[in-house]
Order: sequence, then structure tokens, then C-alpha cells
Amino acid sequence: MKLFIKELREQQNMTQKELADKLQVSFQTVSKWENGVNLPDITHIPKLAEIFDVSTDVVLGLEPIEKNAGLRKFDSAQYWNNSRELTKIWKQLYWNDDYFEFLVKNVWKWNNPVEILDFGCGYGYLGMKFLPLLPRGSSYTGLELDEGQIAEAKGYFAQTPYSHKFIKENIYDYIPDKKYDLVVGLFLVSYFQSPEILIEKMRQSLKPGGMLLLIDANYLVEQSGYFSGLEKEENGVKCPDFAPVWEYEMAHHERDYRMGTKLPYLLKKIGLKGIQARISDMVQIYEPQDKDKKNLNDIFRYVYENEETYLRGTNYFTDRGVSYQKASEYMDYYKRSKEYFDLDSSIAVKTSGIYFVYGYN
Ligand SMILES: C[S@@+](CC[C@H](N)C(=O)[O-])C[C@H]1O[C@@H](n2cnc3c(N)ncnc32)[C@H](O)[C@@H]1O
Repeated sequence: MKLFIKELREQQNMTQKELADKLQVSFQTVSKWENGVNLPDITHIPKLAEIFDVSTDVVLGLEPIEKNAGLRKFDSAQYWNNSRELTKIWKQLYWNDDYFEFLVKNVWKWNNPVEILDFGCGYGYLGMKFLPLLPRGSSYTGLELDEGQIAEAKGYFAQTPYSHKFIKENIYDYIPDKKYDLVVGLFLVSYFQSPEILIEKMRQSLKPGGMLLLIDANYLVEQSGYFSGLEKEENGVKCPDFAPVWEYEMAHHERDYRMGTKLPYLLKKIGLKGIQARISDMVQIYEPQDKDKKNLNDIFRYVYENEETYLRGTNYFTDRGVSYQKASEYMDYYKRSKEYFDLDSSIAVKTSGIYFVYGYN
């Protein structure tokens, strides 16, 4: 009997160890299941189905895994619950508290309490950042699919004086029960198959004159704003061009890596006024030996850590229309970068391409 554990695990970009930790078993146990040496205990089957967000029949190999299974499911609560650690690392790579404070205090300048609604709020990051900077009496509501992240957000806000509320619901099913001064989405739109429907939905929650704020990246901008000493030491061998992979993902409605730059167009299409855009001033000088700045190493840990993650990464790229040779080239680059960043002499510059785009209802 062949269970689909390995296939489903790879689809979620999860290592054997990560899966083992979730099930509280050893990674050797997972390896034995995947190689058909042992079968999991029956009590693990529903848990596996929950982790992979499929039916137990799919886990048992009785039903096929969906076509396009290699593509990630961004509308799945479980996917984001599994990616929580990574979404926290992103903040270190992108977020500049002082720049955000500048926007709130010097650009947006709210004088009265602000009621905020955050679509796909995750663990409530934007609320944590906004409320200390806004006039007293402001409040934060988060709308989110994933119960686990809502629980984390509630835990945080319970220790603060701020008024807060969380709604566990699918954005597409959400019917606004009131209107807000500020509707926001952080790292949200690029993951949606129909950005226009999403943004129109967000507009419906705005008071007249209310502000819609969307924050998203553009990886092409970032790619040209990146330089590491590896390039110098390898006589100009540059980071490979990932654009073909991003184009494939966009064409297959997986993710749009240029979304930051497209947002003003989308806001215009739904009829917002006074549209403006800013780009964060975050430029990281990255020296991984500096203990406070180990974040790029963490990113490489996700992409390349060992032979297992090398293979997983190669599959990720071939699933997205790239030849095996090109996929190996990408992974070789990640592997060499990881080795480079383990050296004391390593240094890199990473320019964040994160856009703050806003307009008024
Ligand atoms: C990239 S994460 C960003 C989370 C948060 N804004 C942050 O930056 O920390 C996208 C979030 O949107 C949520 N999400 C995705 N599709 C959703 C939907 N259809 N309805 C509600 N939430 C959704 C996910 O669960 C996830 O937490």
C-alpha cells in the first residue's frame, strides 16, 4: 500500500523533520512511512489530512492528488499556519519601524481615532504596528481564515490596552457589518487569484472618504537591488534570473511577484481617488555573523539546507515549467550562497521592494 505522505509533504514545502514535529514523532518514523517500511498508526491519518488540507482518502492514496498539486494553496488556512515562521522572517527583511512611523505621523496624519479592518490579518502584525502610533481610542479588527494565527494575535492584544476584535471567516464570504476608516492588507493581494474581486470587496468595508492601504512587494525590483560578495568572489557570477518562474506562477494564478507595482492600477480600476504610492526605505546591509541579522541565513535555510531540501527545491522549480538543468542551476546558486553566508567575511546588500499603495473612497 502506497500512502501519499511524501508527495503531500513536498507539495507543502515541508521537511520530514517539520512534519515529524507536528505529529510528535521522529523524522526517522516519517522516513519509514514514506519509504513504505512502516505504515502510520491509524490515529495519525486524520491529523495528516488536516496538516495537508486534503481528505483522508487522498492521504491513503485512494483518491488522486489534485492536478496542479505542485502549486501552493494560498487560500488554505493550513498552508499559512504551516508558514508562520517564514512570514515572521519576512518582516525582518522588509519592515522598517521608523519608515512606517514616518508614514503614519508625517504623511497620513490622522487626528481622530481610526477604526481599522485588516484583511488576511495573520497574527495581527499590522495592528501591533498601527495602534501605538494612532490617536487614543483607535481600534483594530482582523479578518482571517486561520484560527491558529487568530489565537496568537488575541494572546498578544490581550496584554495591550487596545480595542481589538478578530473575525474568523473567508474573505470571499465576508459580508461587511459596518464600515471602517482604514482598510488594509499586508502581503495579501499578490496571493489572490482575482485581485480585483478582493480589492472591490475591501472597498465595500470603507466609510466614504476612508482609506484603503495595500502593502506588497515587487521581486523584480528587489532582484536588481541585490548584491552579495559571492558575485565578486566568483568573478561576476550573478544571482540567476528567476523571472521565468515568476511568470509561470503568474500565468497559473499562483502568485504575482510584481504586485506592488500594479496596485495603483487596481485601485484606480475600482474608482478610488487620490491614489499614491511609497516604497519602503529599507536597505539591509547583511552580515550574517552579526547575531541580530541572521535572517537571510534563515531564508537560505528554507531553500537550501541539505540534500533533501536541494531535491525539494529542484522539484519546486521543475513544477513551474523550468528544465531540470535550470532548476539545478537555481539550487546550486542557493547552495553556494548558503556556504558563502556561513563565512565570517560574507556580506550582501538587499534592497526591499515593498510598496505602500493607498487611495480614498
Ligand atoms: C501572506 S499572509 C499575510 C498575513 C499578514 N497580513 C501578515 O503580513 O503577517 C496571507 C494571509 O491571508 C490569509 N488568507 C488567505 N486567503 C484568505 C481568505 N480567502 N480569507 C481570509 N483569509 C485569507 C491567510 O490565512 C494568511 O494568514
